[in-house]
Amino acid sequence: MKLRPKLLGIAASLRNARWGIGNQYLVDSLAGIADEEQLFSFLSKESELHLKNFIEAGRKDGKSFLEIYDNLKKNKGDKGLSNSEVALASALWSAQEYNVEIEHISLSEYFLTSGAVRNENKLKEKLLSADGLLVSGPVYFGDRSSLVQSLIEMIHSDPELYEKLQGKLYGGIAVGAKRNGGQETTLIYQMFDFVNIGYWAVGNDSDSTAQYGGTGHAGDVGTMHKDSYGLKTSMGAGRRIASLLNDLGAKRIIRGPVNVLFIVMQDRNGEVHSRLLNILNEFSGELNATIINASKERIFSCIACDICPTHIDVDENYRCVITSKQDRLKHLHTDLLYHDAIVPVMFSPKDALGVRSGYQTFMERSRYLRRGDYALSNQLMAPLVFEEIGASQNYALRAMTSLIRHHTVAVQPMIGYIHNGELLNGKEIGEQMKTFLASARRLAAARLAKAYEKESSRYRPVGYVLSANKEEEDVRLNSRKKMVKSRYEHMLNEAKDRLIP
Ligand SMILES: Cc1cc2nc3c(=O)[nH]c(=O)nc-3n(C[C@H](O)[C@H](O)[C@H](O)COP(=O)(O)O)c2cc1C
Repeated sequence: MKLRPKLLGIAASLRNARWGIGNQYLVDSLAGIADEEQLFSFLSKESELHLKNFIEAGRKDGKSFLEIYDNLKKNKGDKGLSNSEVALASALWSAQEYNVEIEHISLSEYFLTSGAVRNENKLKEKLLSADGLLVSGPVYFGDRSSLVQSLIEMIHSDPELYEKLQGKLYGGIAVGAKRNGGQETTLIYQMFDFVNIGYWAVGNDSDSTAQYGGTGHAGDVGTMHKDSYGLKTSMGAGRRIASLLNDLGAKRIIRGPVNVLFIVMQDRNGEVHSRLLNILNEFSGELNATIINASKERIFSCIACDICPTHIDVDENYRCVITSKQDRLKHLHTDLLYHDAIVPVMFSPKDALGVRSGYQTFMERSRYLRRGDYALSNQLMAPLVFEEIGASQNYALRAMTSLIRHHTVAVQPMIGYIHNGELLNGKEIGEQMKTFLASARRLAAARLAKAYEKESSRYRPVGYVLSANKEEEDVRLNSRKKMVKSRYEHMLNEAKDRLIP
């Protein structure tokens, strides 16, 4: 029987309203909410209550913030929600749709402003018992709060904890006072932090324009509930992580090699290509590698057309508007499909002498795959970068930022350091590749297990906006049904072939 996975919501604000028993009360309240209308009314009430908490704690008497803060801490922690807690609560409510168990904790209970840590073992237990974390906090200077920083440092400095948390899931939500206050930078850096301590990271689902998690816009205390779009993005973040947790809960296993697509995006004299082949040699039995050398191929730039993809069709058909004979993407199209994992491979040099790059053009041109109902969805993804010491181009971060938009699942980048032409950490890269392939195997099994699920939970098409013209709508709907059917048939065949019964 499939066990219910656990999603731990982590509130990372020092202005939080919930602690102690208040965490459980919140979870109980969320369990009793039947629809979005009730949810929004609950969130509005709790958000406004938090403002009331502030007023009662001394704002009404013009007390100093220090006094207000001290008074607030005398509360029971059982009413109100801070801005980032409002966003988190909406995400946790949505996550329940996927039959996950939810829990809520506040980091401020564990990491004190003085720098001391309280009840460390309890926090560790919470982390260990969860299958995934949804971390929601305020944006501070375009980055995450000191509470999240403390959490990451705690995990990173505890070898036993670190070891046991490998391969768990991470999703994020960031709330800032400004519309473009750094919610996305916060989420990207935070994602990078979590993959570097071994978590698997997801972004958002496709119901909103947010890509990297939930993004809230709320300034003063008690205002997050007014940002309905921010709540929508947070709910998407909740669904994205919960749906993957649910898939992984099937705990199936695949046989045979894993299928991994390596795209060499930037190289110099074939150096990176041959380094890649050397690494892959070690894994010949367990890996079915497809290598596309985009640094050598002629790939035209995206012209930002307004019909991407050109039409709705089965995945096998190339659907980018660029069809010039000199452009190679059309010929590479089928090689891009149906993998378990995707690894962009880049040479990151100190100077650009002799470097051949297809990096940006390839990223841009992959747009039709994304807009074609996320053809690369739920593939494991980690950049492999060979970086000359001092290059400082952040290719791992950039590639991850772009490729997570395909609804991939990001894991720790593999970064080889080169000095005077010599790879300094080859052994480490080999070990990282080994972990990557094992993770790809686990994710592939989860993805394929869906072939046997009920149709409604198996696949939700997402990408296309239907036309207002009825006739055209019917044609598109039919094409779409054909595409969904074809994807399903492919998945089922693969599942029959690869899943161990
Ligand atoms: C030290 C500090 C730095 C901040 N930096 C930013 C920022 O860079 N961008 C932004 O939009 N908001 C910034 N804010 C505002 C908070 O992110 C915002 O008020 C948020 O809603 C707080 O959420 P909370 O009530 O859950 O703590 C900052 C606030 C503080 C205290």
